[in-house]
Amino acid sequence: MDAHWMEFLSMLLRWLHVIAGIAWIGSSFYFIWLDNSLDAPAPGSEAAKKGVGGELWAVHGGGFYNPQKYTVAPATLPEKLHWFMWESYTTWLSGTVLLVVVYWIRAGTMMVDPGVAELTAAQAVAIGAGSMVGSWLIYDGLCRSPLGRHNGLLGAVVFALLTALAWGLTQWIGGRAAYIHVGAAIGTIMSANVFFVIIPMQRKMVAAMKAGETPKAEWGLRGKQRSVHNNYFTLPVLFIMISNHYATTYSHPHNWAVLAVIAAAGVLIRHFFNKRHKGVFAWQYPLAGAVLLGVVAWWTAPKAIALPPVQGEVTFERVRTIMGERCVTCHTEAPTFPGIAQPPAGVVLQSPAMIAQNAQRIYQQVVATRIMPLGNVTEMTDEERAVIAAWVASGAKTQ
Ligand code: HEC
Repeated sequence: MDAHWMEFLSMLLRWLHVIAGIAWIGSSFYFIWLDNSLDAPAPGSEAAKKGVGGELWAVHGGGFYNPQKYTVAPATLPEKLHWFMWESYTTWLSGTVLLVVVYWIRAGTMMVDPGVAELTAAQAVAIGAGSMVGSWLIYDGLCRSPLGRHNGLLGAVVFALLTALAWGLTQWIGGRAAYIHVGAAIGTIMSANVFFVIIPMQRKMVAAMKAGETPKAEWGLRGKQRSVHNNYFTLPVLFIMISNHYATTYSHPHNWAVLAVIAAAGVLIRHFFNKRHKGVFAWQYPLAGAVLLGVVAWWTAPKAIALPPVQGEVTFERVRTIMGERCVTCHTEAPTFPGIAQPPAGVVLQSPAMIAQNAQRIYQQVVATRIMPLGNVTEMTDEERAVIAAWVASGAKTQ
């Protein structure tokens, strides 16, 4: 497909993915808040007699709401029952197609990184797809195993395994793609939780009630466990969704550990909110989260970079020649690199003024993080990176 149409398609998919994700996570947050905020009705009240175990009053958008949660179920099922599942499925489907369009189709540049491992594009895609399916199978197996009865331990094991996945992926594919594939694996677990466990358990409960039987408490508990896991996955997975804008995280030499620390901070902060809804102000959790994020900020700060010494004078002509040889197949008004339709990120590196204007960004991409040239497809050398560093250090002049 023509590169322009691919780009447009990826824009539409990303838009849809973000909208569906907001709807899904928004309703998930709302229901967790609701569950944690309910008060038991007064004994002997109308609500208590109906079997309501908790309720609350809220005002929103000019109306008053009074949601009630039944301890087991109402005596008779209402005609119309709202289900929440398409938010989740749409998020997963749009995310997976987006992954294919942005990463898998252009795996040679977007996933393979010769500085990490010499893979073919097909191998990189197989690793990515395998990690999504494999993560779900292992996670689901653990939840069903005897370990599944120990919530704290299970959570710790899942966290350790996902960190191991992040480590494994960063040994095979580029950091940016590795991050997104950890996110895709977590997203797959979350959506499969809804599809294979939460919704089927709810269907069983509804079917039992229609047959005049009492639903087994175990069904509700199994669904609840997965729903709580999903709740703790949200902040880490949201970070991963935006991580591709922050090269200092995914291009760090220990990028997998950086991700684990940020994810841990997200889990701690989420835990604070879950407690706060219940009226407990456990400040130590966000404090610990903030400390972890502080550690990441310090750990990922640019260090002195070891580059070979520059031979000869650093002139702008040399910089311009390097740009011409290593960058402009992509960073020009009409890129010639296959699959690139517009100058990426709007960065054009042709005229002296344009190069000078982008000096800091060029330094960040080429020297500090070594993200560019993408996958080093144009085989830029360390000597050339040193020339760029020296040119920026001397004021990025064009004369
Ligand atoms: C194979 C194509 C390709 C080559 C070659 C390439 N780039 Fe890029 N560049 C990209 C893509 C794609 C992006 C957008 C990445 C994204 O979406 O975050 C980008 C983004 C950038 C950005 C913007 C990053 C930001 O968000 O601030 C800069 C600056 C940049 N490249 C500089 C360079 C320099 C300098 C070179 C040559 C040494 C180079 N690139 C070579 C494809 C390329």
